[in-house]
Amino acid sequence: WWTNVEMGPPDPILGVSEAFKRDTNPKKMNLGVGAYRDDQGKPYILPTVKKAELAIQGLDKEYLGITGLPAFTNAAAELAFGSGSSVLSAKRNVTVQGISGTGSLRIGANFLDKFFTSNKSIWLPTPSWGNHVPIFNYLHICCWLIMCFESCLLYNNSACFFRHAGLDVQWYRYYKPSTCGFDAEGAMEDLNKIPENSIVLFHACAHNPTGVDPKLENWKEMSQICKNRNLLPYFDMAYQGFASGDINKDAAAMRFFVEEGHNILLAQSFAKNMGLYGSERAGAFTVVCADQEEAARVESQIKILIRPMYSNPPCNGARIASTVLTTPELREQWLVEVKGMADRIISMRQQLVDNLKKDGSSKDWGHIVDQIGMFCYTGLTPDQVSNLTNNFSVYLTKDGRISVAGVSSGNVQYLAHAMHQVTK
Ligand code: LMR
Repeated sequence: WWTNVEMGPPDPILGVSEAFKRDTNPKKMNLGVGAYRDDQGKPYILPTVKKAELAIQGLDKEYLGITGLPAFTNAAAELAFGSGSSVLSAKRNVTVQGISGTGSLRIGANFLDKFFTSNKSIWLPTPSWGNHVPIFNYLHICCWLIMCFESCLLYNNSACFFRHAGLDVQWYRYYKPSTCGFDAEGAMEDLNKIPENSIVLFHACAHNPTGVDPKLENWKEMSQICKNRNLLPYFDMAYQGFASGDINKDAAAMRFFVEEGHNILLAQSFAKNMGLYGSERAGAFTVVCADQEEAARVESQIKILIRPMYSNPPCNGARIASTVLTTPELREQWLVEVKGMADRIISMRQQLVDNLKKDGSSKDWGHIVDQIGMFCYTGLTPDQVSNLTNNFSVYLTKDGRISVAGVSSGNVQYLAHAMHQVTK
């Protein structure tokens, strides 16, 4: 039956972990996938999550409704929009439980494909998380953004082989390789040219893969452009709390858009900020609607989309997250834990730069500390990345992104030495 099935390429991010596992070098480092590690390099189960697990022990295992656990979807919406949000008090939000960030984004992609009739284009920042392309558009033979460093152009290889949500993925400028920072001028110029009534994807905070976030004044300008051109903003918020250590600060850009009257779409993930990576997969997808009546219609259609995909979401992660968010002592402790993770990453950025200097590197590595969140876009070329992997067993994605969460006091010196060796 399957002689026609060709071997597919490994996933650009998860494939890195597979290669890492095969390496027998005791000094090997996995800086590929974005998964938090403690300073001993070990996976970290948040103490609040352990407490919540105890609290929910013994509950039944009945089906949830198609849209998930109400206690969870309410708490997720409140976390995102803030407790005093007028959207929530007017019940203008439809918030449904999704399978972590990817599954939540995907519900939105399918909803847009079916009901966003004015224009099938979604505009992504250049570059964006590798999985955004196949989530919204097609599964590509090589859906990886290939960076052409010499000309500083980014392009994507679009040899597609099967259709996912089927939107037309387009790109606006975002990252400026020459400064390793935000290309405000390029972004505004491109956003201003997007055809009216299109969809624009924004990373709410801690942009993946670059770690480069716009400033508030940039967000204000982008909001105005979206208004002028009647663009629908779709926020991907996978790292709330992880960028600055403050959940409100990290949601500020998205909340600003909502206050300005944009009826946004939002995908949330609890993989990073609660460390619920694998066994729970808790996320949420929200549509902000014009009024409650519109919200009821939208919700009814989202249920029809979800039912044939996976019937209803799993309850365990939703129970854990809602217990943490709605139990006052747990919530307070959780905020401290999130800040602890964010602060450890910030300190590792500084230690990496210090060690690069100590090792003799005279390059300007300032962007490592200027960038924010889990990832650092090092600026290493694909050849330098291969060199790091082949000669030092340091695993990272081809675009030069490192997950700073995988760096610890024990391996930062080794990493700095390896980076210096491949860049001198
Ligand atoms: C990442 O970018 O490494 C994470 O979001 C994990 C993933 O699924 O790609």
